[in-house]
Amino acid sequence: MSSPAGFPKVCAGVVLAASVALIGCTSHDFEPPDRADRVNRAAAAYAADVFDSVSWPDSSALMLEGNTIYSEECRRCHGQLGRGDTEYARERNLAVPSLVAPDWPLANLDSLRRMIFVGHESGMPVFGDHDLTPRQIDATAAYILLSLRPDVLEQ
Ligand code: HEC
Repeated sequence: MSSPAGFPKVCAGVVLAASVALIGCTSHDFEPPDRADRVNRAAAAYAADVFDSVSWPDSSALMLEGNTIYSEECRRCHGQLGRGDTEYARERNLAVPSLVAPDWPLANLDSLRRMIFVGHESGMPVFGDHDLTPRQIDATAAYILLSLRPDVLEQ
Protein backbone atom coordinates (compact mmCIF):
# COMPACT_ATOMS: atom_id res chain seq x y z
CA MET A 1 0.00 0.00 0.00
CA SER A 2 1.48 3.39 -0.85
CA SER A 3 1.95 5.82 1.99
CA PRO A 4 -0.11 9.04 2.05
CA ALA A 5 2.89 10.87 3.56
CA GLY A 6 3.23 13.16 0.56
CA PHE A 7 -0.30 14.47 0.92
CA PRO A 8 0.20 17.01 3.72
CA LYS A 9 3.17 18.48 1.84
CA VAL A 10 1.09 18.93 -1.27
CA CYS A 11 -1.63 20.62 0.79
CA ALA A 12 0.86 22.95 2.43
CA GLY A 13 2.18 23.84 -1.01
CA VAL A 14 -1.29 24.67 -2.26
CA VAL A 15 -2.05 26.79 0.82
CA LEU A 16 1.25 28.64 0.41
CA ALA A 17 0.63 29.26 -3.28
CA ALA A 18 -2.87 30.52 -2.48
CA SER A 19 -1.57 32.96 0.15
CA VAL A 20 1.10 34.27 -2.20
CA ALA A 21 -1.57 34.78 -4.86
CA LEU A 22 -3.75 36.57 -2.30
CA ILE A 23 -0.94 38.89 -1.23
CA GLY A 24 -0.27 39.57 -4.90
CA CYS A 25 -3.90 40.49 -5.45
CA THR A 26 -4.48 42.66 -2.43
CA SER A 27 -1.24 44.63 -2.40
CA HIS A 28 -1.18 45.85 -5.97
CA ASP A 29 -2.88 49.17 -5.20
CA PHE A 30 -0.44 50.22 -2.54
CA GLU A 31 3.27 49.64 -2.51
CA PRO A 32 4.34 52.92 -0.92
CA PRO A 33 8.13 52.58 -0.85
CA ASP A 34 8.46 51.75 -4.52
CA ARG A 35 5.32 53.34 -5.91
CA ALA A 36 7.17 56.33 -7.38
CA ASP A 37 9.75 53.98 -8.95
CA ARG A 38 7.04 51.89 -10.52
CA VAL A 39 5.34 55.01 -11.93
CA ASN A 40 8.65 56.28 -13.29
CA ARG A 41 9.45 52.94 -14.91
CA ALA A 42 6.00 52.79 -16.48
CA ALA A 43 6.36 56.38 -17.75
CA ALA A 44 9.68 55.46 -19.37
CA ALA A 45 8.18 52.30 -20.91
CA TYR A 46 5.06 54.03 -22.22
CA ALA A 47 4.74 54.25 -25.99
CA ALA A 48 1.56 55.53 -27.63
CA ASP A 49 2.06 53.19 -30.58
CA VAL A 50 1.32 50.04 -28.52
CA PHE A 51 -2.32 50.91 -29.18
CA ASP A 52 -1.92 50.96 -32.97
CA SER A 53 -2.60 47.25 -33.29
CA VAL A 54 -5.71 47.27 -31.08
CA SER A 55 -8.97 46.94 -32.98
CA TRP A 56 -12.57 46.13 -32.05
CA PRO A 57 -15.23 44.30 -34.05
CA ASP A 58 -17.84 46.89 -33.01
CA SER A 59 -18.48 49.53 -30.40
CA SER A 60 -20.59 47.27 -28.19
CA ALA A 61 -17.66 44.83 -27.76
CA LEU A 62 -15.48 47.81 -26.85
CA MET A 63 -17.98 49.20 -24.32
CA LEU A 64 -18.61 45.79 -22.78
CA GLU A 65 -14.91 45.21 -22.17
CA GLY A 66 -14.45 48.79 -20.90
CA ASN A 67 -17.38 48.42 -18.52
CA THR A 68 -15.97 45.13 -17.17
CA ILE A 69 -12.50 46.55 -16.54
CA TYR A 70 -13.86 49.76 -15.06
CA SER A 71 -16.05 47.81 -12.63
CA GLU A 72 -13.25 45.46 -11.61
CA GLU A 73 -10.30 47.84 -11.47
CA CYS A 74 -11.45 51.45 -11.20
CA ARG A 75 -14.88 51.74 -9.61
CA ARG A 76 -13.77 51.19 -6.02
CA CYS A 77 -11.78 54.45 -6.13
CA HIS A 78 -13.44 56.42 -8.94
CA GLY A 79 -17.05 55.41 -8.24
CA GLN A 80 -19.77 53.92 -10.39
CA LEU A 81 -20.33 57.22 -12.21
CA GLY A 82 -16.72 58.41 -12.21
CA ARG A 83 -17.25 61.11 -9.61
CA GLY A 84 -14.44 59.92 -7.32
CA ASP A 85 -14.34 60.35 -3.57
CA THR A 86 -15.61 56.85 -2.73
CA GLU A 87 -15.67 55.39 0.74
CA TYR A 88 -12.87 53.01 -0.31
CA ALA A 89 -10.73 56.01 -1.30
CA ARG A 90 -11.58 58.02 1.84
CA GLU A 91 -10.64 55.10 4.09
CA ARG A 92 -7.21 55.13 2.44
CA ASN A 93 -6.79 58.91 2.45
CA LEU A 94 -6.69 59.01 -1.32
CA ALA A 95 -7.78 62.20 -3.08
CA VAL A 96 -9.45 60.70 -6.14
CA PRO A 97 -10.51 63.27 -8.73
CA SER A 98 -13.73 63.17 -10.71
CA LEU A 99 -13.48 61.79 -14.24
CA VAL A 100 -16.60 63.63 -15.31
CA ALA A 101 -15.86 67.27 -14.45
CA PRO A 102 -16.72 69.76 -17.20
CA ASP A 103 -13.67 71.01 -19.17
CA TRP A 104 -11.63 68.08 -17.92
CA PRO A 105 -8.22 68.34 -19.60
CA LEU A 106 -7.80 64.55 -19.80
CA ALA A 107 -10.98 64.01 -21.80
CA ASN A 108 -9.23 62.54 -24.82
CA LEU A 109 -8.12 59.02 -25.67
CA ASP A 110 -4.37 59.67 -25.68
CA SER A 111 -4.27 61.31 -22.24
CA LEU A 112 -6.48 58.64 -20.71
CA ARG A 113 -4.53 55.71 -22.10
CA ARG A 114 -1.32 57.21 -20.79
CA MET A 115 -2.75 57.96 -17.33
CA ILE A 116 -4.10 54.41 -16.96
CA PHE A 117 -0.84 52.89 -18.20
CA VAL A 118 1.50 55.01 -16.07
CA GLY A 119 -0.56 55.76 -12.92
CA HIS A 120 0.43 58.42 -10.44
CA GLU A 121 2.49 58.26 -7.29
CA SER A 122 -0.27 59.87 -5.22
CA GLY A 123 -2.20 56.59 -5.32
CA MET A 124 -3.41 55.94 -8.86
CA PRO A 125 -2.16 52.38 -9.53
CA VAL A 126 0.17 51.61 -12.44
CA PHE A 127 -1.81 49.38 -14.80
CA GLY A 128 0.40 49.26 -17.87
CA ASP A 129 3.36 47.24 -16.64
CA HIS A 130 1.47 44.00 -16.20
CA ASP A 131 -2.02 44.38 -14.71
CA LEU A 132 -3.82 45.41 -17.90
CA THR A 133 -3.03 44.80 -21.57
CA PRO A 134 -3.03 47.69 -24.08
CA ARG A 135 -6.32 46.32 -25.36
CA GLN A 136 -7.88 46.47 -21.87
CA ILE A 137 -6.49 49.98 -21.32
CA ASP A 138 -7.89 51.11 -24.66
CA ALA A 139 -11.33 49.75 -23.75
CA THR A 140 -11.31 51.43 -20.33
CA ALA A 141 -10.26 54.80 -21.76
CA ALA A 142 -12.98 54.58 -24.42
CA TYR A 143 -15.56 53.56 -21.82
CA ILE A 144 -14.75 56.64 -19.70
CA LEU A 145 -14.99 58.93 -22.73
CA LEU A 146 -18.06 57.46 -24.35
CA SER A 147 -20.06 56.11 -21.47
CA LEU A 148 -19.17 58.08 -18.36
CA ARG A 149 -18.72 61.37 -20.22
CA PRO A 150 -21.79 61.71 -22.43
CA ASP A 151 -20.92 65.39 -23.03
CA VAL A 152 -18.09 64.19 -25.26
CA LEU A 153 -20.53 62.27 -27.42
CA GLU A 154 -22.58 65.38 -28.06
CA GLN A 155 -19.68 67.45 -29.42
C1 HEC B 1 -6.59 52.76 -5.43
C2 HEC B 1 -7.44 53.79 -6.00
C3 HEC B 1 -7.49 53.94 -7.50
C4 HEC B 1 -7.81 53.00 -8.43
C5 HEC B 1 -8.14 51.52 -8.19
C6 HEC B 1 -7.81 53.67 -9.70
N1 HEC B 1 -7.47 54.98 -9.54
FE1 HEC B 1 -7.40 56.39 -10.98
N2 HEC B 1 -6.72 57.76 -9.63
C7 HEC B 1 -6.54 57.51 -8.29
C8 HEC B 1 -5.95 58.71 -7.67
C9 HEC B 1 -5.58 58.85 -6.20
C10 HEC B 1 -5.80 59.65 -8.69
C11 HEC B 1 -5.21 61.06 -8.56
C12 HEC B 1 -3.80 61.07 -9.10
C13 HEC B 1 -3.21 62.47 -9.01
O1 HEC B 1 -2.96 62.92 -7.89
O2 HEC B 1 -3.03 63.11 -10.06
C14 HEC B 1 -6.30 59.03 -9.91
C15 HEC B 1 -6.32 59.65 -11.14
C16 HEC B 1 -6.88 59.11 -12.27
C17 HEC B 1 -7.02 59.81 -13.52
C18 HEC B 1 -6.59 61.25 -13.77
C19 HEC B 1 -7.64 62.17 -13.22
C20 HEC B 1 -7.25 63.64 -13.27
O3 HEC B 1 -8.14 64.48 -13.46
O4 HEC B 1 -6.06 63.95 -13.10
C21 HEC B 1 -7.61 58.95 -14.40
C22 HEC B 1 -7.99 59.22 -15.83
C23 HEC B 1 -7.81 57.70 -13.70
N3 HEC B 1 -7.35 57.83 -12.40
C24 HEC B 1 -8.37 56.58 -14.26
C25 HEC B 1 -8.43 55.35 -13.61
C26 HEC B 1 -8.85 54.15 -14.26
C27 HEC B 1 -9.34 54.05 -15.68
C28 HEC B 1 -8.74 53.15 -13.34
C29 HEC B 1 -8.98 51.68 -13.54
C30 HEC B 1 -8.28 51.04 -14.63
C31 HEC B 1 -8.28 53.74 -12.10
N4 HEC B 1 -8.10 55.08 -12.31
C32 HEC B 1 -8.08 53.06 -10.90
C33 HEC B 1 -6.86 56.36 -7.62
C34 HEC B 1 -7.26 55.19 -8.21
